[in-house]
Amino acid sequence: MAAPLTVDRHYGRAGIAERALATLREAKGPDAPITPETLAPIDHFHGRGVLATEELAVLLDPQPGEHILDIGSGIGGPARWIAYKRGCRVTGVDLTPEFCEAATALTAACGMADRVTINQGSATDLPLADNTFDRAYSQNVVMNIADKPRFCGEAFRVLRPGGVLALSNVCAGSGPPYFPVPWASVPELSFLATPDETRGDLLAAGFEIVSFRDTTDELRAAAARDRERVEREGLPVIGIHIIMGDRIREMRINSARSSEEGRTRTIEVLARKPV
Ligand SMILES: C[S@@+](CC[C@H](N)C(=O)[O-])C[C@H]1O[C@@H](n2cnc3c(N)ncnc32)[C@H](O)[C@@H]1O
Repeated sequence: MAAPLTVDRHYGRAGIAERALATLREAKGPDAPITPETLAPIDHFHGRGVLATEELAVLLDPQPGEHILDIGSGIGGPARWIAYKRGCRVTGVDLTPEFCEAATALTAACGMADRVTINQGSATDLPLADNTFDRAYSQNVVMNIADKPRFCGEAFRVLRPGGVLALSNVCAGSGPPYFPVPWASVPELSFLATPDETRGDLLAAGFEIVSFRDTTDELRAAAARDRERVEREGLPVIGIHIIMGDRIREMRINSARSSEEGRTRTIEVLARKPV
């Protein structure tokens, strides 16, 4: 009998870093530089890629020398981007062992091992000390987490007083998304809260809300453009199929359709742990 599908099995595939580096070198030549910029089409695993990471970085506003936490760091693209662009140190935590392995290998390939550290672990039981981080962020992760109060409580625990948490993720809308989506091949792996429930969970954990935006309407046109491009042209040579395989084509189309039809919503939040 097949083992049940779990979140880490949904994501994990062996050899991600090797495939990413080989694809870059094949497309750009054997001496292609390996940097957060050249890796960006591959290693930002969420809608609108590095553009969305940069928007989240603007909201988070990390300062040089600060210690930042990435909750659900994937293969490390956002962590490397923020460390590289903002001159800070980033620690990532991710559930999927193959992603942590790829994140560590790609960070070494970028020569950034002194600034970005990745730990395997769960957002609901962070392997990190209390009151450690100046700021934290989590991008498209909570959709896999059933126990959202615990997610918020753990983020609160590891932030320093006065520290902020930036969230960008998919929420529940008018109905279930079309499956498979990038975060879940089957409904059993998807746990969508409404924007109001998310606000309530953050407040219950002790956070103050600094800003809370429902970005669904402003991103609807981008979702439609992305869907039409993937339907028409298929996947680009350098892209996140290197992480997820060709199944990402159907997942991206379903994700965009779900958002276009209001079945899902997207939010961008900044919350603060009071001093
Ligand atoms: C869609 S990917 C986003 C990765 C990364 N945040 C990015 O934007 O590139 C979702 C990530 O959440 C991670 N994840 C899911 N549940 C988690 C949990 N309970 N604790 C830590 N990471 C988790 C997955 O392993 C995966 O890397």
